[in-house]
Amino acid sequence: MNGKKLPRYEELSKPLIIFSYKWFKWGLVRFFLNTVGRLSNGVRIGFRYGFDSGTMLDYVYENKPEGLFFIGKLIDKAYLDGPGWAGIRQRKVHLKGILREVIESNRKINKGTVIMDVASGPCRYLIEIKQEHPRYDLKILCRDMDEEGLNLGRKLCSRLGIEGIKYEKADAFSPEILKNANPKPNVIVVSGLYELFTNDEIIKKSMGNIFTALNSGDYFVFTNQPYHPQLELIARTLPNRRKEFWVMRLRSDNEVKSWAAAAGFKHVKTLLDTYSIFSVNLFQKQ
Ligand SMILES: C[S@@+](CC[C@H](N)C(=O)[O-])C[C@H]1O[C@@H](n2cnc3c(N)ncnc32)[C@H](O)[C@@H]1O
Repeated sequence: MNGKKLPRYEELSKPLIIFSYKWFKWGLVRFFLNTVGRLSNGVRIGFRYGFDSGTMLDYVYENKPEGLFFIGKLIDKAYLDGPGWAGIRQRKVHLKGILREVIESNRKINKGTVIMDVASGPCRYLIEIKQEHPRYDLKILCRDMDEEGLNLGRKLCSRLGIEGIKYEKADAFSPEILKNANPKPNVIVVSGLYELFTNDEIIKKSMGNIFTALNSGDYFVFTNQPYHPQLELIARTLPNRRKEFWVMRLRSDNEVKSWAAAAGFKHVKTLLDTYSIFSVNLFQKQ
């Protein structure tokens, strides 16, 4: 973080004054992205599925610049190298590291692990975790509201010959659906979901529902976004999965961790990327 004051969610949600400097500036950037920018595969995926979609995230994880002509590939490389996406890739590394530790501590006591990501997208990171543990009792449940992301994950698994990962459409915020998960998870992951919602109460309620759905000794892993250096650019130019401008609400780690503690969880560890954009938090139900 460079100490510069970041624009607030409320400020970024307001439409710009017509013919103001910012109205021209961001209008021009939007025009560039919507025309020349579309030569990049990543930018095209973002406009089609939403820049916050699971499908977009999977392309960012893959991190292989592609585009129409040489210029498209160059734009794609610049896009994928943006600090937010670099932070997302570090978040994936941290997420996998934390899950490996959880698996190892379960393995030591001869316990199998069932991981459920409640808003998984294609869930490349869990596919990779599954690949790393071929002889361990590891089951994975990937849930999302978006069929497109789930289908991409199913295709990825069948291409790689991976079994033991179930994909199903489900609302992450429904307590009944959470409780009735089959197989029953002993690790619930909420990665990249809370950051998409601006209402704090939804998150607090979700943490309470997750606490109820787990048994004691089980784990809760969630991500948070305390900072982003390109908030204004994103809010003024990039559409989300609902085709609205993607306005992010940042939350301090301490605040979100205090909600998990209030839900009943005990903090185990937190990892933060080098840009301080994304944290990965591990909590346990005692
Ligand atoms: C940024 S992606 C995160 C994907 C994955 N968890 C990861 O970290 O790699 C956010 C996902 O949340 C999904 N999503 C949004 N609202 C949801 C809801 N109410 N229930 C389930 N999934 C939801 C989106 O479809 C999208 O795939």
